[in-house]
Amino acid sequence: MAKKLWGGRFNKKTDPLVEKFTKSNDCEIAEYDILGSIAHAEILKKCGYLTPVEANKLLVALSQIGAKRFKKDDSCEDVHTQIQNMVQEKVGDLALKLHTARSRNDQVVFATKLYCKTHIKLCEKFIDGLVSAIAKLAQKNKKVIIPGFTHLQHAQPVYLKDYFQVYIEMLERDKKRLEYISDNMTITLGAGALAGTPIPASNYNIAASKYVKELKKAGLKDLNIVTSNSLDAVSDRDFIIEFINALSILAMHLSRLAEDLIIWSTKEFDFVEIDEAFCTGSSLMPQKKNPDALELIRGNAGRLYGNLMSVLTMMKGLPLTYNRDMQLDKEPLFDSFEKVSLELKVLEGLIKTLKFNKSKIEEQLRDESLYATDMVYYLVDKKVPFKEAHAIVGRLVKYSINKGIAIQKMSQGDLKKFSGNFVKKDLINLFDPKISVKSKKSVKRK
Ligand code: ARG
Repeated sequence: MAKKLWGGRFNKKTDPLVEKFTKSNDCEIAEYDILGSIAHAEILKKCGYLTPVEANKLLVALSQIGAKRFKKDDSCEDVHTQIQNMVQEKVGDLALKLHTARSRNDQVVFATKLYCKTHIKLCEKFIDGLVSAIAKLAQKNKKVIIPGFTHLQHAQPVYLKDYFQVYIEMLERDKKRLEYISDNMTITLGAGALAGTPIPASNYNIAASKYVKELKKAGLKDLNIVTSNSLDAVSDRDFIIEFINALSILAMHLSRLAEDLIIWSTKEFDFVEIDEAFCTGSSLMPQKKNPDALELIRGNAGRLYGNLMSVLTMMKGLPLTYNRDMQLDKEPLFDSFEKVSLELKVLEGLIKTLKFNKSKIEEQLRDESLYATDMVYYLVDKKVPFKEAHAIVGRLVKYSINKGIAIQKMSQGDLKKFSGNFVKKDLINLFDPKISVKSKKSVKRK
């Protein structure tokens, strides 16, 4: 085991199993922990805990470590220990001063918040990629009309572009939700283990301006360092729960898009052709072209909810302030981000290559049941009360099904039996998808 950050009061070595069990070298937050240490070295210099020469040595060492790809050392207890040891290798015992007035309890919160903020930015970028792919596809097929479904049954004709706009609306809401979460995430420094440190609060903000510049490069807004309550700073994990909650909602949206495309690509529907590059085959059935990527997107939503539940449940009833349970927040956080970002990228590629089978869609649009509601409006326009019109068309549909006669093939005489208001040539015009969608005026299209 590499050098630990503690040990003085212990007579015994840690049991190797306990060492293995408690370890958490979360290198995903390494670069942010290094930024935190850079800020901290500045603060220590400002307060006289480090001479300018000492501070400079530490800053150079930290920058060198930060510049290289971080290689995880599994012999370390955690990422903070590994970075501390790496600094010590470079500057010797001077590294021991870096931990002045600092605890891993506040370090881990600082680094994880920066991880969240930068990864929220990445999510927003991936969302933009998918939104623009969907928007292009909708625009390319702007005249296409499809049967709209409720309960997965034919309902009324709708524009394909409106259908895809639904997913754009969902994704824009996801983006706003993520932005809000990031804005609401205040960065804290100076909480120490829980009680604060002897360093005056004002110093944290001034010295931190240096790394704020670094963060701006990553596209983050000005970061104000606020540690109004040090106990809260080390015990708060709301920001993780909020982030993975937003990712869960996003994953739920993606799972619905995936499911629609899975259904549409079946032989029974045959509305879309998913590009082969986004499908896989069967080891036994040679004819198969399966939408596995979409199925995994559908399935992953469950995993995301699991991640959210695991952090929520881990936090439930924890006494203030820091407890080691909290280190179990990282895996679900990293996993949720990794899964959702991959899903967004896979879907972007899949959408870009998606083809519509227009003749199949047109075939389905011939189903008369899609226009039953339009027939009701037709009667309503002739002053028949809605409920009565609904019942009349219901009886007409029943008759058509039972007798196996299309409504359009019925004689004027037959139609009159249902309502004296039916005029065959007017009725026939209603069975037109274009007329049906154009007659819906309540929707303000973007
Ligand atoms: N790995 C720990 C976590 O993620 C870091 C903080 C450890 N603090 C401590 N006092 N042992 O929560």
